[in-house]
Amino acid sequence: MTLIAEMSSADHQTLLAKIRSEYEAFRAQGHKLDMTRGKPSPEQLDLSNGMLALPGNGDYLTEANEDARNYGGLQGIAEARALFAPVLGAPADQVIIGDNSSLAMMHDSIVWALLKGVPGSAAPWSKESAPAFLCPVPGYDRHFAILEEYGFRMIPVPLTGQGPDMDLVEKLVEDPAVKGMWCVPKYANPSGEIYSDEVTKRLASMKTGAPDFRIFWDNAYALHHLTEKKHEVANILEACEAAGHPDRAFVYASTSKMTLAGAGLAFFASSAANVKWYLARAGKRTIGPDKLNQIRHVRFLKDIAGLHKLMDGHRMLIAPKFAAVEMALESRLGGTGLAAWTKPEGGYFVSLDTLEGMGSRVVALAKDAGLALTPAGATWPSGKDPKDSNLRLAPTFPKLNDVQVAAEGIALCVLLAGLEKQEAAKA
Ligand SMILES: Cc1ncc(COP(=O)(O)O)c(C=O)c1O
Repeated sequence: MTLIAEMSSADHQTLLAKIRSEYEAFRAQGHKLDMTRGKPSPEQLDLSNGMLALPGNGDYLTEANEDARNYGGLQGIAEARALFAPVLGAPADQVIIGDNSSLAMMHDSIVWALLKGVPGSAAPWSKESAPAFLCPVPGYDRHFAILEEYGFRMIPVPLTGQGPDMDLVEKLVEDPAVKGMWCVPKYANPSGEIYSDEVTKRLASMKTGAPDFRIFWDNAYALHHLTEKKHEVANILEACEAAGHPDRAFVYASTSKMTLAGAGLAFFASSAANVKWYLARAGKRTIGPDKLNQIRHVRFLKDIAGLHKLMDGHRMLIAPKFAAVEMALESRLGGTGLAAWTKPEGGYFVSLDTLEGMGSRVVALAKDAGLALTPAGATWPSGKDPKDSNLRLAPTFPKLNDVQVAAEGIALCVLLAGLEKQEAAKA
């Protein structure tokens, strides 16, 4: 297709009329489609149904002969920590297993930092007049919601395709009020970003105004490959240690999108000092995590090879859905200049940029046609995308044929909104 902006006025109007009638035809089909849910499909959850019968009657002793039915074991059982240590890039004794949600562990880390400070803090973060956090954009709405809830100043930082704009990050962290930063280093939500080694190294070695600055390294999609290539990112804990900032990174991950999203295991890994700090706070909050679930995971997955095999099963189920989105977007929007989108090699999302100012219009058009999209702006702090252009598409949950229809609908809405904008600009 020719770049639509270069069309003659008559051709442009003809195309707009054609796309409008295609959109109306789509709308008349009375769809009920939902591309908002970044969660595993029932078929993906079925891959872990074997866990429902585990650990099984009478199987409750850990390798160290502890009774997993009882209280205690705050850090998590040793064999589960050892199994996931390579995913986190930390020795097993620097891994903590929480309950089912890594987001909860991130939330707690932030609240404890505010109330108590972290190792290296002169005072709790809440004593700062306006503690600030760097927020790579587009990013994960729930990360931003935690900061908003507790009154942080959120500073958006653009992503470059290889991680955040490091020249800007290095400048911003000179301000001692900047206490931390979100990073989703692999297959980021929603951009699919994979941080380069260079970015990781710069994050680890940059000079920060705050001596207690923390990188919240949320490796939520560490093993969630969509292609044969299992991308790696550099080990942030080792990089921080090597740069003389051993306590700089808090690392998080979970099995939410590996085993069972509502009944997985969440992890925190960091330096020995940070692990001690976390456990001291966690010990006030709970007498111990659900260790039977930890045994269940060990019995089911067995070893790291078992984990990779399970993730291959996920890939087989969801890669065709991402391919369907790509096919519809490319065939309708490719070369038009009306949109740009990611072709993720892992993770759960496609990030789509419409023409400026058209994000909300696309969501409204889609809604009218029975197609739910994540609200425009959700990928920005406080839900405010200054360009109103970024949209997050989540293809994992719906059935493949619904994803195909939804992707076609999205492409039509983007086309229609873009053409309308160009027509209005001419008027
Ligand atoms: C980047 C990121 N981190 C964390 C989570 C949630 O993790 P959990 O289920 O372990 O709380 C999600 C879920 O979508 C996510 O996209």
